[in-house]
Amino acid sequence: MKYLLAICLFKAVLGWWSTGHMIVTQIAQIVLQAENPQVLNIANQILEPLYGPMTHGISNSFVESACWPDDIKVYGFHDFDSWHFTNKPYDYDGFLNITDSGEDVIWALNQCMSTLGLLNYQTAILENALAMRFLLHFVGDYHQPLHVTTLWSRQFPSGDQGGNLFNITFDKTVTELHALWDSVMGEWEVDLVRPLTSDGWHDINMWAEWCMGNYTQEDLAEELAVSNITDWVYPTYHLGVDYAYHGIKPLEKPSEEYLKKGWQIALRQLSLGGRRLAQLLINLFGQEETLS
Ligand SMILES: *[C@@H]1O[C@H](CO)[C@@H](O)[C@H](O)[C@H]1NC(C)=O
Ligand SMILES: *[C@@H]1O[C@H](CO)[C@@H](O)[C@H](O)[C@H]1NC(C)=O
Ligand SMILES: *[C@@H]1O[C@H](CO)[C@@H](O)[C@H](O)[C@H]1NC(C)=O
Ligand SMILES: *[C@@H]1O[C@H](CO)[C@@H](O)[C@H](O)[C@H]1NC(C)=O
Repeated sequence: MKYLLAICLFKAVLGWWSTGHMIVTQIAQIVLQAENPQVLNIANQILEPLYGPMTHGISNSFVESACWPDDIKVYGFHDFDSWHFTNKPYDYDGFLNITDSGEDVIWALNQCMSTLGLLNYQTAILENALAMRFLLHFVGDYHQPLHVTTLWSRQFPSGDQGGNLFNITFDKTVTELHALWDSVMGEWEVDLVRPLTSDGWHDINMWAEWCMGNYTQEDLAEELAVSNITDWVYPTYHLGVDYAYHGIKPLEKPSEEYLKKGWQIALRQLSLGGRRLAQLLINLFGQEETLS
């Protein structure tokens, strides 16, 4: 019972729940396998020292490693919590009241890129193994509209924490707007067992294929052409304002129309995030010599 409660509390502060994160990394893996398998080898080589017991036996692959920055919260390690989001204000009633912490997801991603960009992974083994895990995770979080947008209004004069305080009527697990989006409209609210079983791998792969099939490289060409990580924020912010906070009020049940649109947006964002992650890794390691 206590364990269940801990899991529930833990869920309330996560990014995309683990399924969403693993879909992003699976998409990146599919792209890398096709375009540059050597880069995928290097990423795995960097991650590998922390596979196994150091990460509690549940992050033994490129795909599962995306979950690690949330897994550590279960063990009371909250030092990096502010790196998972950025609070771009949606200032509905002109109640703006914000202090920008600076150390947000945009800052953290740029830090990960600088660390990994030193290309010292053969000597700085732990540092790179950590930076890579953060990178895999934060690219995902950065594409969740409510990790970017926060509502400030008469009702939320100090902000709604990206929908975490915006209660809705949905089900027992998903009780606020942030969770609705993290769980992709409740579709992926039950986390897969990790290490992934063969059924788990099958599902992650199928869902990654759905995202990629519905939102191809061609569909996303305009956004994929933007290479500056900092500039990725605005389109996602607008998805927050125009869709996540649009057509729903606190305590309401999301309409069928809202859920349908939200599902499409989330799949699109997962496809975009996975493809961008592959591109970042190619930018980092595409010129590296074959190891071992
Ligand atoms: C801003 O937030 C502070 C602390 O939460 C609160 O005391 C203050 O009233 C807020 N200002 C406005 C304009 O709501
Ligand atoms: C949202 O729900 C939580 C948990 O039930 C409750 O503590 C909180 O007061 C609610 N917030 C609002 C703004 O309704
Ligand atoms: C698009 O996504 C849906 C699920 O929403 C899936 O059933 C369908 O197969 C996907 N289409 C492609 C081309 O992948
Ligand atoms: C990325 O964009 C930001 C703001 O738009 C700018 O400050 C920064 O210098 C850019 N970074 C690069 C590497 O061009």
